[in-house]
Amino acid sequence: MPHALPQPRTIAHAERLSGRLRVPGDKSISHRALMLSALAVGESRVEGLLEGEDVLATAAAMRAMGAEIMRDEECIWRIHGVGVGGLLQPTGALDMGNSGTSTRLLMGLVASHPITATFTGDASLSGRPMGRVIEPLSRMGADITASPGGRLPLMLRGLCPAVPIEYTLPVASAQVKSAVLLAGLNTPGITRVIEPVPTRDHSERMLAGFGAELTVEPGPIGRVISIRGEAELKPQQIVVPGDPSSAAFWMVAGSVVPGSDIVIENVGLNPTRTGLLTALRMMGADITEQDARIVGGEPVADLRVRHAALSAIEVPPDLAPSMIDEYPVLFVSAAFASGRTVARGAHELRVKESDRIAAMRATLEANGVACIEHEDGLSIEGTGGDPIPGGGVVASKLDHRIAMSSVIAGLHAARPVTIDDVAPVATSYPSFFDQLEGLSA
Ligand code: S3P
Repeated sequence: MPHALPQPRTIAHAERLSGRLRVPGDKSISHRALMLSALAVGESRVEGLLEGEDVLATAAAMRAMGAEIMRDEECIWRIHGVGVGGLLQPTGALDMGNSGTSTRLLMGLVASHPITATFTGDASLSGRPMGRVIEPLSRMGADITASPGGRLPLMLRGLCPAVPIEYTLPVASAQVKSAVLLAGLNTPGITRVIEPVPTRDHSERMLAGFGAELTVEPGPIGRVISIRGEAELKPQQIVVPGDPSSAAFWMVAGSVVPGSDIVIENVGLNPTRTGLLTALRMMGADITEQDARIVGGEPVADLRVRHAALSAIEVPPDLAPSMIDEYPVLFVSAAFASGRTVARGAHELRVKESDRIAAMRATLEANGVACIEHEDGLSIEGTGGDPIPGGGVVASKLDHRIAMSSVIAGLHAARPVTIDDVAPVATSYPSFFDQLEGLSA
């Protein structure tokens, strides 16, 4: 789903941000809700689904493989699944747009079905490495022909029955873990993933919720996740909590724009996702949790964020998996802290929707912030709370999080910050600019 025309946008500084907003549904959970509902027999109902382009790409692909997916006027999604093993041969290529999660998880699903699917994507997705899923899925018997470098477009011919494997993740990736577990759903016997570094566990939670036989145990080198295949999934009623990765922008905006006081409602606080909250609190952010509750089997709270003086920290590298998507906006917070923030151990940022280390270095430098680029992170000199100079033009590089992080930087800049293209924001956060307007009013 390439965007027709670039949408440039210039952001002027904000006086203060105030009010309440409700972040849209969690992207990771939304993808999984559609996929598993599409494999259950009967009607599942999903409330709070993120209606961003990435998730809509997953919905289109599941429809193309036989699921019936409808949305009613109250924004409730109703899905009639085909049953595990029941995916149909899609007639055309599956266009994954910008979405790495759709691609890697669906490759897992197709790998153990007797169908062949071609996966295509936009320029950003076509540059991202798929070898990390090609390798384990090939071991399970899938036949995959990829473009040079293990990239999209690629064609995947599934094998049924596939071969169960035990796979130790060589890279901390929830997408790779999920691809293998989803392939295991339609594979006879036990498929096992060993995860030396814990990553987001939404797949495990939701697979168990749909009735799959899944166990998670500690092992000598990490978490051992085992799934028994040829599972029968039972339809569910799912409420998707708000996305902490979307809330992240307001956590930082509220912290750095003087005088701000905002409440972000409905934020998912699954401990595998809260690294940014931990890092911001280490920096001195004033973020409190209100009305802690459980939504759809996940911990959720409203977050009250008030402006605070931030201090530079060395970001603990072991937070990386639980804040991997939040580094771009963490780098923005560091630009306003007193002292030099050092964030290392986040090598994976090089292979996201863009090379987020290079992209954020360029963004910050273009706006007068001094930084040093490391192979696995950035060091950033903060202003001690003063506005950054601003005045730069930023390239969003088909990356929603670079676009939104740059917007947040512009909210406390001496001169306006221009982003060359904010169209990618629609992949994960279609209401972002409306909500920003609400907070600035
Ligand atoms: C995701 C996992 C992470 C994350 C991505 C969503 C998921 O990717 O960056 O935005 O839903 O499983 P990796 O598995 O590549 O770390």
